[in-house]
This record gives sequence, structure tokens and C-alpha cells, in this order.
Amino acid sequence: MKKYKIAVVGATGVVGRSFLKVLEERKLPAESYTLFASQRSAGSTVRFMDEDYTVQLLTEEAISAGFDIALFSAGGETSKHYAPIAAKSGCLVIDNSSCWRMDPNVPLVVPEVNPQDILKHKGIIANPNCSTIQAMVVLSPIQKKYGIKRVIYSTYQAVSGAGAAGINDLDEGAKAYAAGRETPAPKKFDYPIFCNCIPQIDVFDEDDYTKEELKMVNETRKILGVPDMAVTATCVRVPVFASHSESINLTLENPFEIEDIKALLASSEGVVLVDDVKNKKYPLAADAADKDEVFVGRVRIDRSCENSLNMWCVADNIRKGAATNAVQIAQKYIELMNK
Ligand code: A2P
Repeated sequence: MKKYKIAVVGATGVVGRSFLKVLEERKLPAESYTLFASQRSAGSTVRFMDEDYTVQLLTEEAISAGFDIALFSAGGETSKHYAPIAAKSGCLVIDNSSCWRMDPNVPLVVPEVNPQDILKHKGIIANPNCSTIQAMVVLSPIQKKYGIKRVIYSTYQAVSGAGAAGINDLDEGAKAYAAGRETPAPKKFDYPIFCNCIPQIDVFDEDDYTKEELKMVNETRKILGVPDMAVTATCVRVPVFASHSESINLTLENPFEIEDIKALLASSEGVVLVDDVKNKKYPLAADAADKDEVFVGRVRIDRSCENSLNMWCVADNIRKGAATNAVQIAQKYIELMNK
């Protein structure tokens, strides 16, 4: 089997470090790994695969040096500039930023849902938004069997989705509370996140929806391949370090038995059904942290509307919501190329 030259761009960030952890666990057929970051961390050392790697400065020349696969998570501007340069040199870029996701020439992939789109790539594959990825893993089997007419998302999103600065705001707030000090001014969020819920993730558009909410709407339609699906979302930042939780309300095209939906989810790839309410068992953010699966529970009929149901869906936003999904795309790509 061919061995791949793999680059990790943004290797020192929250998602970048998770890329490295997942790569260590999944052991891809790699000839070499090269880790890139900005001037700030270039030259520093990162322990990876039991070796010390010197972080390289990302430059146009360096990223064109004959890589086969590059995993990018260094912000939208970096991806916008460097992903096409890497792609032009013959490298497949798997990009975690939002900048290429809605480009019609760029597949948006969740490997459990639309692996066939991987081979349609023209040099760049986009990794979907964290809150969209976990929803897709549970919605796709339902869409295939019953058809989905309408989706209503309400999300409860961890601070790690906002990178190191977001984690720091919650950490500092919790430490100040424990020490009896006043909550410090936040550095990342517009309001203190400790003891709070902030119904704004990213900036507002002209319809007063946030960018995060629109990502969920547009990416759901693109990944499920239904451009006019009725989808709406309210995205909320909550004081949780790891794992996004989502309340999902669905109206289906066809009637269903709720036990059949549960059985379908329990047998779907990448999904773990945790739904035993008599024993107070349902998915929890703390239990999903550091796991690769998507956990779903509280699956129940919504009697307020025909053919409708509610569910609670939880996943580690940095692993399945970012790093794991990207590495899974790379694994699937390698598998398809070696068939
Ligand atoms: P650096 O450590 O040098 O700043 P996070 O989202 O956790 O803040 O991480 C962002 C990641 O993206 C870091 O690894 C950061 O590197 C990297 N990064 C940011 N800007 C650039 C850039 N212009 N070129 C290369 N890497 C970048």
C-alpha cells in the first residue's frame, strides 16, 4: 500500500492537537508527518508518535513540497490562502474552516453519511461545522428511511468550540468564583460564560440569525442533498468545556413507530443510543467527552405535530465535531484510492 506524506496545518491549536491525538490512535499509512503553524509557534517542539517534531512555519513554498494529504485547522483566512496552493501542488486538503464548505466544487463530508462525495473532490474537501456533523450522523439514517420534512435545532455548545481563548474564559470565570472574586471580563465572548448561556455564536446576518445557525441550516441541506429542506436553528454557548448537546425536533415525510426509529438509530454507524429514561439514562456532555461516537437519546413522539419526534444528541465537538471527522475522511479517501 502507498504511504502518504501528511501535513497538519494549525498543529498547535485546540483542533490541531486533537488531529495529532486522533492520528496517533488511528495509525494511517504515513510516510511522513509535517506539522505547521504560524510564526508564533514555528520552531517549537511537539511530542507526536513518540518523537519530537519541530513545528514548521507555514509558507507557500513549504505547503507545496509534495504532500499527499493536508489537514487544515488554522482559521478561515489561512485556509482561503493556502488550501488552493496545496491543492495545486497535488495535495488533498481536508479543511476544518468554514471558508470552502458551501463552494459547489468542494464536497462537504461526514464519512458515515456521504462517503461517495469524497471522490468528487477537486483538491479540497471541507469538514462540516461541529454542530452539523453530529446531527448528520443521526439524521441521515432517518432521512434515508422516512424522509425529513422539517428540522428544528436548539444547541447547547461547549466553549472549546471557540478555541483556546473560549476555554480560558470559562476557566478564569470558574476560578474567580471558587476564590470568591468577581467574574473577570471575558476575552473571547461578549459576555461572561461562567454561570451563563449566550444565545449568540458568531456574528448576526441581516435576518438576525447567527452565522453558526446559518451553517447548520445550509450544511444540513448540502450534506443530506436536499437543497430546499425546511431547517431552522438556535445556537447557544453554554458553560461546558467539552461536547455539544442538541435538542432536535423532526417532522418526517412518512409515519413511523418510535421504537423503529430507536432501533434504526441503535444500528446506525457511529451512533450510540442511550435511551432508558426509567433508569435516568440519556446522553450527557461529560460522558461523550473524548469519544468518537454520537450519542442520542430522549427519542420520543412530538404529539403537537403530525409525524414528528424529538431527540437529544451529544458528541465531543473537538473529536467527532472536528478532528476525528477530518481524519476519518482521510482514512476513507486512502481506502477508496487503494480499492
Ligand atoms: P500558532 O500556535 O502559531 O498561533 P486555535 O484555534 O486553538 O487558536 O488554533 C489556531 C491554530 O492555527 C494554531 O496552531 C495557530 O498557530 C495556527 N495559525 C493561526 N494563524 C496561522 C497562520 N497564518 N499560518 C499558520 N498557522 C496559523
